[in-house]
Amino acid sequence: MSDASDASLEDAADLLAARYREPTRPTPAHWSAVLDTMLSHRSVRGFLPSTVPAATLDLVLAAASSAPTSSNLQTWSVVVVEDPARKARLARLAAGQKFIEQSPTLLVWLADLARLEALAAARQQTVEGIHYLELLLVAVIDAALAAQNAVVALESLGLGSVYVGAMRNDPLGVAAELGLPKRVFPVFGLSIGFPDPSISTGIKPRLPPAAVVHREQYSAAAQPRAIAEYDARMSAFQAEQKMGPEIWTEKVINRVRTPASLSGRDRMREVLAKLGFELR
Ligand SMILES: Cc1cc2nc3c(=O)[nH]c(=O)nc-3n(C[C@H](O)[C@H](O)[C@H](O)COP(=O)(O)O)c2cc1C
Repeated sequence: MSDASDASLEDAADLLAARYREPTRPTPAHWSAVLDTMLSHRSVRGFLPSTVPAATLDLVLAAASSAPTSSNLQTWSVVVVEDPARKARLARLAAGQKFIEQSPTLLVWLADLARLEALAAARQQTVEGIHYLELLLVAVIDAALAAQNAVVALESLGLGSVYVGAMRNDPLGVAAELGLPKRVFPVFGLSIGFPDPSISTGIKPRLPPAAVVHREQYSAAAQPRAIAEYDARMSAFQAEQKMGPEIWTEKVINRVRTPASLSGRDRMREVLAKLGFELR
């Protein structure tokens, strides 16, 4: 742990307070550049047209490759999409979200069991294990860890990003557009680029630790109060960002209220079967 200057420790207390939207937070004893980047996170949905330099992308992808990976299997891949026409087609498959076309680069993160299968096939071997749900979990976790390392790397360099879960609204369409082989699943997209400085976004508060951190054993006892506090803090954040009034609790319930609330993703089991995942 490295000590930081008094000034940056005060900034650290402000960042901690912002993350939970508490009026104040005690000054932490230690701080680091990595914590500073992580606690400053916000998704970016407004980008400058400038392209992401190839050397920067190389660094970001090296950070992605540095993520831990289950049994060193490295069951993830990424497709870098810069062609405007392809980005536009992918945007249409992902709920028409404008930032996908506007950002210079879309990274599509893949759970990739095809590489493992091909390695075995080249040795005239089969790999039965890849047909189990466990291996899809492994590959999705690998892809997510790699992608989040890329997010932190981007933010440390002054770039921004936003995940695109809507890439799973139509995974078959995405797979066709990207030429994915069987047993490769597009987990999510990540639009990246230089943030448009004319659009300011605040730090979106997160649930208080009392709602998510359990000691030794799970207990939901503290949740009602912590979540009521959070609803109030999120409402204040929404008002500050000039976004419509919205109660977090209602919003998240609505997000999963019915199968239709999943925007097409309620058919995921069927879609995965078509992509070659048996999920035994
Ligand atoms: C897996 C994943 C998928 C997401 N998909 C979308 C998306 O399709 N569109 C979007 O605008 N934001 C998307 N987001 C961004 C979240 O809305 C955002 O992270 C969350 O509201 C918290 O805000 P913050 O990242 O600014 O702190 C996604 C985030 C994750 C982790």
